[in-house]
Amino acid sequence: MLSLWATAVLAYILWRTYKVATALQTYKRIPKYYCVADPITALAGLIIPRGWWNPGFSITWNGKETLYTVRSSEVVLVVPVFFGDALLMTSSPEVCKEILNDPTRWSKPERIMGLDVMGKNVIASNPPVWRTHRKIAAPAFDDQAFSDVWEVITTAYNQMMASPDWKSTDVHYVPAFNNITTRIALLAIVKCGFNIPMEWNQDQDDKSGSFDEIAVTLPNSSLRHIAAASEALQRILREKIITKKKELSLELELDGAVSKANKNLFGRFVAASQREGDRGLDASEIMGNLFVFLLAGHDTTAHSMVLTLALLAGQPEDQERVHRHIKSVIGDADPTYDDYSSLAPVQHCLYEAIRLFPAGWITMRLSGMDEVWSAPQLTPTGEDVVVQKGTTVMVDFIGACRNPRHFPSPHDFVPLRWAPSNDPDAPPPPSMDTFLGFSSGPRTCLGKKFASVEAVCFLTLLLRDWKVGVKLAPGESMQAWRKRVLQPELSTALKTGDVPLLLTRRLKR
Ligand code: HEM
Repeated sequence: MLSLWATAVLAYILWRTYKVATALQTYKRIPKYYCVADPITALAGLIIPRGWWNPGFSITWNGKETLYTVRSSEVVLVVPVFFGDALLMTSSPEVCKEILNDPTRWSKPERIMGLDVMGKNVIASNPPVWRTHRKIAAPAFDDQAFSDVWEVITTAYNQMMASPDWKSTDVHYVPAFNNITTRIALLAIVKCGFNIPMEWNQDQDDKSGSFDEIAVTLPNSSLRHIAAASEALQRILREKIITKKKELSLELELDGAVSKANKNLFGRFVAASQREGDRGLDASEIMGNLFVFLLAGHDTTAHSMVLTLALLAGQPEDQERVHRHIKSVIGDADPTYDDYSSLAPVQHCLYEAIRLFPAGWITMRLSGMDEVWSAPQLTPTGEDVVVQKGTTVMVDFIGACRNPRHFPSPHDFVPLRWAPSNDPDAPPPPSMDTFLGFSSGPRTCLGKKFASVEAVCFLTLLLRDWKVGVKLAPGESMQAWRKRVLQPELSTALKTGDVPLLLTRRLKR
């Protein structure tokens, strides 16, 4: 018996030695990061304590200041000694873009498709399925949808301000401002993406059967909550899908076309399920897509908005500058969607917050053929990197968004970096092409403008009326507050825990 065990252990050691040696030989010129298990193997986190020896996905966040710089390389080979396969990580925006530009050569690995619990969808799929889903969804993101988002956010903000909590006070301490941005973002996607009524101050006690029921589960987007959220959503949506199918059939029968009101995400996916063949979807695919749009469509934006406010709270001079700009554009009035492009400084704050805390913090790709990467500072010697077919690559958006070649003072919150300057000696604003906060290429974030419009509208309204600050603990510096409160959790989106903010009224309304 003993010898059987000894043989099995020996065979495992030999097999691992072979695997590690092969990876080292294949990528011998690339700096290494040795660990016990590969960062994707979730099981490793349950059986071996986390730490530098077993970092899991936190290798990205924990390594943001050192992983690449101490190795003088924008590519690192992660070498798991005991479990899993070696993989490449990169913070080079040029390489990331090259990978993201071709979803056929660089596919999403099957093993990270955790978001397809309810069915295949635009996020958790590869071509050709992905292409069909993207084609169905993309037209829903048009100017009409953005203008609707603006209106929904303005109405919700005014309802919020009219509520007793806000109306009666000039100094308002909110222990978890993220709950407010989460509700705002959920309202935007439910009303504009699904055309389903939901109000800011809907009866919070009666949640059953409404989107408020899933609002309880969805914000907890950690993977263990996804199953519960998807069950609640299936229950709520099943009825609504049946009703929508009847409505669409009737419209087609009477008018020969789907009405404008049903050209939102919900209408488009249900209509696709009634089509046959390549352009059609099965029942699980409608659910899968509606689920990921609700999830991707609110959690990401909610956290980006609260982080923008938290970062501005720590930099009053930037906040005052943005406030002055807002006043110069809209005075005391509510902004309209036509003001969106004039509110660029608000958007710069949002982009800078996303750069530091990218809600979509990582994506993975698998090389379908041998590839050669060529980009500045890719390796310590400046050599190109030859990537073998079948290699998994972690596209590290945290690293890429803090790449010092593209973003000087990469770890500071500098909204002004995005603004064109009159100073001829000032560096030009970063190119939107190399900012990967919303990814890049044909699979770039479908909701990029939706999220920007939503956030610019909400931030404009709030910053017009309130000065945003924080309550520091005795003896605590702003920097220490940031470190204590803005500690991200890396889940389906990068998000922090509760963000307490102190708001002081600027304008008597
Ligand atoms: C600040 C908010 C947001 C950020 C930072 C963000 C970021 C990202 C990133 C980085 C990706 C690429 C993920 C990957 O390749 O695995 C992505 C994809 C996607 N996002 Fe967003 N997102 C935001 C808001 C939204 C919103 C509001 C929606 C929908 C209403 C949305 C829908 C999607 C979809 C459908 C994809 C998949 C696209 C594809 O694979 O073709 N996102 N997003």
